[in-house]
Amino acid sequence: MIFGVDYYPEHWDGSEWKKQAALMREAGFNTVRMGEFAWKLFEKNEGEFDFSFMDEAIEVLSAEGIKVILGTPTAAPPKWLVNKYDILMRDKYGRPRGWGSRREACANNPHYTEKSKIIVSKMAEHYKDNPNIIAWQIDNEFGCHNSTRCYCDHCRNAFSTWLEEKYKTVENLNEKWGTVFWSLQYDSFDDIILPGYNSCEGDWGNAQSHNPGLDLEYRRFASESWVNYQNMQIDILKNYTDLPVTHNLMGHFSDIDYRKLSKNLDFVSWDNYPETQWGGSEYEYVSMAHEIMRGVKNKNFVVMEEQAGPAGWDVLGKTPRPGQLRLWTYQAIAHGCEGIVYFRFRTALFGMEQYWYGVLDHDGVPRRRYYEIKKTGEELRGIEKYIVNAENKYDALIVKSYDNVWGHDIKRHSAGYNYENHLYSFYKANARLNVNTAVSDGDYGKYKVVYMPAYNIISDDEAEKIKDYVRGGGVLVLTFRSGTRDMFNNVRPLSVPGVFADIAGIEVDEFDAPKREVAIKGEITGTASIWCDIIKPHTAEIISRYDGEYYKGRAAVTVNGLGKGKVYYVGCGLDDPAMEALVRNIFAAADIPVIKSPGGVEIVKRGKNAFVLNHNEYEVSVPLTGKSLLSGQSFGGNMEPFGVDFIELSFK
Ligand code: GLA
Ligand code: ZN
Repeated sequence: MIFGVDYYPEHWDGSEWKKQAALMREAGFNTVRMGEFAWKLFEKNEGEFDFSFMDEAIEVLSAEGIKVILGTPTAAPPKWLVNKYDILMRDKYGRPRGWGSRREACANNPHYTEKSKIIVSKMAEHYKDNPNIIAWQIDNEFGCHNSTRCYCDHCRNAFSTWLEEKYKTVENLNEKWGTVFWSLQYDSFDDIILPGYNSCEGDWGNAQSHNPGLDLEYRRFASESWVNYQNMQIDILKNYTDLPVTHNLMGHFSDIDYRKLSKNLDFVSWDNYPETQWGGSEYEYVSMAHEIMRGVKNKNFVVMEEQAGPAGWDVLGKTPRPGQLRLWTYQAIAHGCEGIVYFRFRTALFGMEQYWYGVLDHDGVPRRRYYEIKKTGEELRGIEKYIVNAENKYDALIVKSYDNVWGHDIKRHSAGYNYENHLYSFYKANARLNVNTAVSDGDYGKYKVVYMPAYNIISDDEAEKIKDYVRGGGVLVLTFRSGTRDMFNNVRPLSVPGVFADIAGIEVDEFDAPKREVAIKGEITGTASIWCDIIKPHTAEIISRYDGEYYKGRAAVTVNGLGKGKVYYVGCGLDDPAMEALVRNIFAAADIPVIKSPGGVEIVKRGKNAFVLNHNEYEVSVPLTGKSLLSGQSFGGNMEPFGVDFIELSFK
């Protein structure tokens, strides 16, 4: 199992390396990830290559038995490259994204891609026979610092070619996008604009001011640009080596379609920071991020950067409490992580991230965090057979669609509404009842319940596939705004919920984006907010009705039998207790067992075993019995603050 640290030998005098490598070995680390920001050292001036510093560092580390995941350095182009060629992205106002940080280069810029090809080829050639390298990481966090979408001329030209391949004729594009609205018809593909600044961007701040077809296609194109850029690097590496290739993704981040980005990677890895300067994440949110990362390939993954200390750029986030680094490690593992690399080994003395604390502080002296991680590693080695190649079984699936992330961002339906938060509300409700829930797409038949919340943009094929799933016995959960748009981001000329109206057995008569909460009553009681569909059931049964507004008494939540399956339709946003009641109702229909744990306690089932994670800073008692596979003792139910256990279950 990979148990490592992110390491920057270039930040330390060479005379320090040996001592640092020895401390790594003593902590049980067997891997480092390095190289991903060292372009200037590898290529001092254009065409002058020198890998000697990295060669030496690899030697020193390997003497301590430490292997290397080597990063290609293209996330940080050096100044000579920026001076000589204009590789900078343009923002939506046409301004160059300044140099001085990282991720400022455009994926469609021919100079940047050319220079990237050269540095990656040179590295691959140089390291292809080095036995201490075990994997490659391409670049670093595509899209970070808001860098997915660029508005430069290279992008514009590439976009118009991309559209021409897809639409064939400009007349077709005009028709599909409805450019007749406001006289926006294009005469040729050369006319195509990028959805940058225009006169409609007014005092409303973030208002979306472009044709929705243009906006959606541009997001698809920008995402694909980085997929292609990455594939270019993968192809080069694969010419030289059979080693696995990865990229470090960012969990919930959605500007790039992660399923497409990961398609040609051998494994997914990602960067997990639960508690930083910008705040702490709820534990369910972190778990969902792990599941998104597992779901993009439906395969176990590696955490390539796991938080190892207090973290911030100019001010610090909360210091991880005793036990919390271990807890976060187990949380990752419980959701399918099978290799973990902590960011970073020793905290930087200089540069932007002086306050992003690693395993060691600035002085390099091992303290609490070092010893906690060391102990965690020892423990993990004892249960490795339950981690590597192990799999959880999933009862439920939440479908995350990148088209829908973008579509809902372009047209938000209701103030305060956010598609990703909406998905999260379902994940959280499931997590609170400790039902293993995948976040992915596609293979519906593997799950007893499939949630397709607000699945607004949908192809006819996809709609058919999901109907077959229900007829075959699946339980499908739809929510407001589902099924009402086509793949060009146009509204379908159908009664709501569009392509789903027949299987949901309803018609939405009217809807309301209420500015205050509306009570609901019935099998599910609580409050609705953000959106209220006023439902006229045809064949569906009513589960709950509104108890307020002019639609008092009208249906809010329904369920419809179809073939051997069922379709739930949830017409409104629900508060937490109502969500719990709803998912309990669904699990009863789908015959899925739930475990109610004390607040803040997460149970993730793995076969007959379970990870039990106490995210609270106080002791709790958990109503489970079994044998602890960590201690070998029987599990009595008491858990210390931020405590962890992995138990062979016998239900109480
Ligand atoms: C990201 C990057 C790292 C580093 C950390 C901490 O995850 O990949 O290079 O910047 O954040 O900020
Ligand atoms: Zn560009």
